[in-house]
Amino acid sequence: MSKVPFSKRLVAFALVALMVVLPSALLVRAEEEPIVIGVAVAQTTNVALFGQEQVIGAQIAEAFFNERGGVNGRPIRIAYADTGGDEAGAINAFQTLINRENVVGILGPTLSQQAFAADPIADQAGVPVIAPSNTARGIPQIGRFIFRVSAPVTFIAPNAVKQAIKINPDLKRVAVFYAQNDAFSVSETGVFQQTVKDLELELLDVQTFQTTDTDFTTQITNVLPLEPELIIISGLAADGGNLVRQLREFGYKGLIVGGNGFNTTNLFPVCQALCDGILVAQAYSYQYDSEINQAFREAYKAQQGKEPPQFSAQAFTGIQVFVEALSRLDERKPLKDMDLATLRAELRDEIMNGKYDTPLGPISFEETKKDDGTPAGGEIVQERFYVARIEMSEDGKEGRFTFVD
Ligand code: ALA
Repeated sequence: MSKVPFSKRLVAFALVALMVVLPSALLVRAEEEPIVIGVAVAQTTNVALFGQEQVIGAQIAEAFFNERGGVNGRPIRIAYADTGGDEAGAINAFQTLINRENVVGILGPTLSQQAFAADPIADQAGVPVIAPSNTARGIPQIGRFIFRVSAPVTFIAPNAVKQAIKINPDLKRVAVFYAQNDAFSVSETGVFQQTVKDLELELLDVQTFQTTDTDFTTQITNVLPLEPELIIISGLAADGGNLVRQLREFGYKGLIVGGNGFNTTNLFPVCQALCDGILVAQAYSYQYDSEINQAFREAYKAQQGKEPPQFSAQAFTGIQVFVEALSRLDERKPLKDMDLATLRAELRDEIMNGKYDTPLGPISFEETKKDDGTPAGGEIVQERFYVARIEMSEDGKEGRFTFVD
């Protein structure tokens, strides 16, 4: 028998029970009106191949930060608005969140193509926007209230081409494909084509398609007789995945680099076993060793049973930036004492001035300028980038991103 008196054992037991049961209940004051953050991403159309991963990232962030006390004890709530895949859908979703849901800020939209249409509305209304996946050139330059946590194509795209050269050092002959109706793909192919020139590779041909295309026979039969050793594709997941499948079916055996639109496991059912070997540059690695990434990775795996993808990590990061900026602002100037317009304006400055330890690594924002020199929004400053290779099982049913750099 233990010599510790029963009363002391009882106290110890009660303390342990409290630590196990109560931390979340004690931290967040559930009876208080939550702070509402908007999430406007694609939950329908082919663009939902990205948007679904963004919703999961935001949902995990909502639960995660509420468990850790929300905004200094006040809970957060996420209001979702589906943007669909086009500009009109994004504009509607932004207007709903701004005028009906009275959000403090918006995470979204999914595509750069949508951001160029919808972000000016938020900027004019003085509502901070954090882009979780817009990688085209010029996004933060849309206006003072626009930020992104998705590193632009200029930082990321060249890495995958350099990796292709590591795999095949004799590589010279390159063909490029891009979706000409999509702002991000147009922006990204510019960077890829410049990279090809900078690395003194031979650009054999440039082929265009539409993100709505499903048949790429014409483009493929134009290119394959030129005997490319590397094909670089800038498109979205459904069109990009189909293009890869058809390239392989037509007998192309060389390397393939996919752009940021290939950065989702939702690509795997499109090209199945034929996705194998595609190189994709990444702004996130689930292997990144830090406390916050470990916590995010575990929460994601517990819910989804697989490793978290880049779009989920970036959406989580965007919500984290909102929560941390709101918490700091609240300490300086209590949120409850501000009207919504003042809160949104103060939040914009607070986001810009912060440093954040996120699953993407340490990030901050750099103030940008419009072409006419007037101040614009915040470009992400991020330290780490990666290149992954898609590995598929022979039957094409299982796949994963394996980090090679
Ligand atoms: N990175 C893609 C875009 O910016 C999703 O549109």
